[in-house]
Amino acid sequence: MAKVPTKILGIDIGGSGIKGAPVHTKKGRLLHDRYRIPTPQPATPKAVAETVHEIMKATDWDGPIGCTVPGRVVKGVVETAANIDPSWTGTNAAKLFKKTCGVPVTVLNDADAAGMAEVAFGAGRKKKGTVLMLTFGTGIGSALFVDGRLVPNTEFGHVRYDHRIAEHVAADSIRSKEHLSWERWGRRRVQPVLEMYEFLLSPDLIIVGGGVSKPERWERFGPALQTKAKLKPAKLGNEAGIVGAALAARQMLDG
Ligand code: BGC
Repeated sequence: MAKVPTKILGIDIGGSGIKGAPVHTKKGRLLHDRYRIPTPQPATPKAVAETVHEIMKATDWDGPIGCTVPGRVVKGVVETAANIDPSWTGTNAAKLFKKTCGVPVTVLNDADAAGMAEVAFGAGRKKKGTVLMLTFGTGIGSALFVDGRLVPNTEFGHVRYDHRIAEHVAADSIRSKEHLSWERWGRRRVQPVLEMYEFLLSPDLIIVGGGVSKPERWERFGPALQTKAKLKPAKLGNEAGIVGAALAARQMLDG
């Protein structure tokens, strides 16, 4: 059997940028600076697949790739498209990317990838029990781990809170859209949503990820949050998705 490579190209597909870098999957580090291309508009599967191929060429890559998508992904097929072009629903992204790039591509949910990276190398390292990773951005992404094992595609951002979808109340995009201060957003929007997740899941640790985990942002709303579980900002910042995508690809190749 062919040896599974330790170095894998990780690619994180976001609403505004598609970012990638080769990753050392045993050390959880990028081997080069990340390469970023603005997300094509409209971000159709075909246009995004071509951008993924561009990143592959720009990083001179011809090995396996791990790639995130901001939707539920089951066996390579994207099943939901809450914050991406609706034409993704039902697309076999793994097959499309493989055809466009000519190498095996593992596709998974963006928050699941970020969580995998945090659990392996960041804020959730060596943590047993139930760990909940939440990413606050355009939407709310979630990743649930039990003793280090991922329960994929949890989509807790879509649980209803106060008759509304949680990510429509507490995503970071809502903070900026409604011009809320960091403190008010934390106390009035994030806190009640965290309480709901705690009630439903009793996690031991909650990791808050996405752009809001940057120290200069976290210090403005983190102190307003109170949870029974330990609460930590993510450690890997905007590299988490790239690292996690590469880790998922290695796991897939490992079988
Ligand atoms: C999507 C999730 C995604 C999250 C963060 C949500 O709207 O449904 O799949 O993980 O946004 O991008």
